[in-house]
Parts: sequence; C-alpha cells; structure tokens
Amino acid sequence: MLWTLIKTIWLFLPAYTPNNFAVLSGGGRPIDMGKNFVDGRRILGDGKTFRGFAGGVFGGVLTGIIQYLSEPLLGLSYFTTLTFSSALLLFLLLSTGSLAGDMLGSFIKRRLGIGRGEKAPILDQLDFLIISIVFASFHRDFSSLYTPEVLLLAIVVTPILHKLVNVIAYLLRLKDVPW
Ligand code: CTP
Ligand code: MG
Repeated sequence: MLWTLIKTIWLFLPAYTPNNFAVLSGGGRPIDMGKNFVDGRRILGDGKTFRGFAGGVFGGVLTGIIQYLSEPLLGLSYFTTLTFSSALLLFLLLSTGSLAGDMLGSFIKRRLGIGRGEKAPILDQLDFLIISIVFASFHRDFSSLYTPEVLLLAIVVTPILHKLVNVIAYLLRLKDVPW
C-alpha cells in the first residue's frame, strides 16, 4: 500500500509541479486577453497567464526529466521502462494536461461567479489531475504505468497533497491564500 502510494505520487509528479512553477513564473498578459465571456464575467481571469502556462509546462517536463535521470540511482523503474523520447512525450502530456485542467477549472469557477483566487473545493484540487489523466491516456504506454489502482489512489490522495503543498507555498509567501 505504501509502495503503491509512492509509485502514484512519483507517476503524477510531472502533473503536480506545473501549477507551482506557474505561480513562480506567472504574470503579464492573461490567456483570455482580459476579455469577458457572454455572461459578462471574465473568460478565465487574471490568474491564468501565458508566462504561467509556459513556465508550468517547462517545470513539469523538467520534473519528469529529473525523475527519469534519478530512477536508476533510486533503484526505481517506472518512467525508465520507456525510452527517453517516449517519456518526454508523457511528461509533456502530463504538464500541459495539468495546466489545461487548471484553466478549465478557472473557466468553470468564473461561470459559477467565483472570483479569481477564491477557493472552489474539489474543483481546485482535481481539475488539473483529471485533465492530465485524459491527456496522458493518449500515450501508448499509459495503461502499463497508470493502472486502475494508481488512478484511484491519485484521485483520493491528490486533494490532500494539494492542500499540503498550497499551505507550504502560503507559509513561504509564494501564494497569497492557502488554497
Ligand atoms: N498562474 C499563471 N498562469 C497559469 C496558472 C497560474 O500565471 N496558467 C499563476 C497566477 O499568478 C495565479 C497563481 O499562479 O494567481 C496561482 O494559480 P491558481 O491558484 O490556479 O490561480 P488563481 O489566481 O487562484 O485563479 P483561479 O481562481 O482562476 O484559480
Ligand atoms: Mg487558486
């Protein structure tokens, strides 16, 4: 069980880190260009920026590469069961899926009238995970790594981990709010 938990976190790390890198690199022009949707509210809001997206993808892929290179040293064999280029594609899918999910979450929040930076339980913790799973499922080796057991555990533990990381980011003053 503990080992499955470690494996799960390991396999989803390239989907977890993009949002933290987005916090660090974010700013500048918002992806929705400041425009409103038909309901008169912002499409996504000022919290989704091009710089945040680019920095997030970079961060997620970098995380995966570091994991790939450290697996032999740690005696692990997950991403390294794939060739490097195949793993790179998986990291790209996980990172972009994570940020796309985060954007979808913001889109839904704005439609519900929830302001930028206001919390939306469940949505804030699972939007990025669900879409990163959808994106990664297009990878041909997806099912050999992400077993039903791993996917289920990820959905259960991610909200807890998410909370933990955001509280730490808040305490480090990287985020304005602890969610
Ligand atoms: N960020 C960014 N671009 C992204 C995602 C995040 O610039 N694509 C940065 C923004 O500075 C954002 C911060 O990371 O404020 C935290 O991200 P998140 O919590 O997802 O955004 P919120 O500001 O809370 O906005 P929302 O209510 O839309 O989730
Ligand atoms: Mg937020």
